Amino acid sequence: MVVAFPTETVYGLGGDATRDTAVAAIFAAKQRPSFNPLNVHVSAPEQAESLVMLISQAKALMAAFWPGPLTLVLPRHPQSPLSRLVSAGLETAAVRCPAHPIAQALIATAGYPIAAPSANRSGAISPTTATHVRDSLGDAIPLILDGGPCRVGVESTVLDLSGDTPRLLRHGGITAEQIAAILGQTVAPPPAQSATLLAPGMMLSHYAPRAQVRLNATAAGVDEVLLGFGSTAGATLNLSPSADVVEAAANLFAMLHQLDASGADTIAVAPIPEQGLGLAINDRLRRAAAPRPEEAAHHVA
Ligand code: TXA
Ligand code: MG
Repeated sequence: MVVAFPTETVYGLGGDATRDTAVAAIFAAKQRPSFNPLNVHVSAPEQAESLVMLISQAKALMAAFWPGPLTLVLPRHPQSPLSRLVSAGLETAAVRCPAHPIAQALIATAGYPIAAPSANRSGAISPTTATHVRDSLGDAIPLILDGGPCRVGVESTVLDLSGDTPRLLRHGGITAEQIAAILGQTVAPPPAQSATLLAPGMMLSHYAPRAQVRLNATAAGVDEVLLGFGSTAGATLNLSPSADVVEAAANLFAMLHQLDASGADTIAVAPIPEQGLGLAINDRLRRAAAPRPEEAAHHVA
């Protein structure tokens, strides 16, 4: 049994993280490559204790940012009840405590940790409304809990604490600066795009809409729609007329969905500042604009 549910970042497709069959059902519904590990949702730090090794850095970050958009990659606990499939064979597991009342209620009611990738077909853009989920996965899943639009709008930050030094694997709702301030040390940025599958969500072509995506656009060309930011003139839609990256992040996936549905050949996107959530937005946009698997067979969506 899998269920789609809202979190503060994006909608997740959840199942029992301790049961391989439930985890496999998630992979199947998403048509997700099975080597891509899932993050595991808990209702409080205490619930993570039996799942992963809670080193002191993890405890400090949980105290500061949980519940909230921060996923921590940690060594699996030797007696971890988590499905092996959830880790996709790695010796680590990713834990996250979502700050959404429906997600919290779901985990508490279930009584087990919930594995939940974003509730979209693998490689497609992430859903920030129940309608996005239905459009992407409708026939493949039995139930969607509708909690309205997601507040943050981009996925959680993924931080790897399993190595010698903390390393960001994915930009997201909590910035590297916020993390560094709590840890009292700098945080390594995400590694450059590579073929290694440390965080498969980092694969180059990801979050891809049907339309082509063109970045740093100042005007729409023929057969293009324009996604603006700030004072962009002639924008079809604007991520944030007031140039607020937090508002832009919340609007990002919904507006990409909307422009994709307009049937235009290409979505041209105005420049977004590389600051705060702007880093996560640009990361997702670069992936959306990257060559697709059929265009670049060596990249996996
Ligand atoms: O905001 C979010 O995190 C959303 C909501 C639903 O909670 N979930 C989400 O899941 O974005 P997903 O599967 O789309 O992204 C999880 C990311 C992926 O990039 C995955 O590769 C990485 O976390 N990940 C999961 N387990 C990992 C592990 N053991 N080691 C390294 N990366 C891991
Ligand atoms: Mg995803």
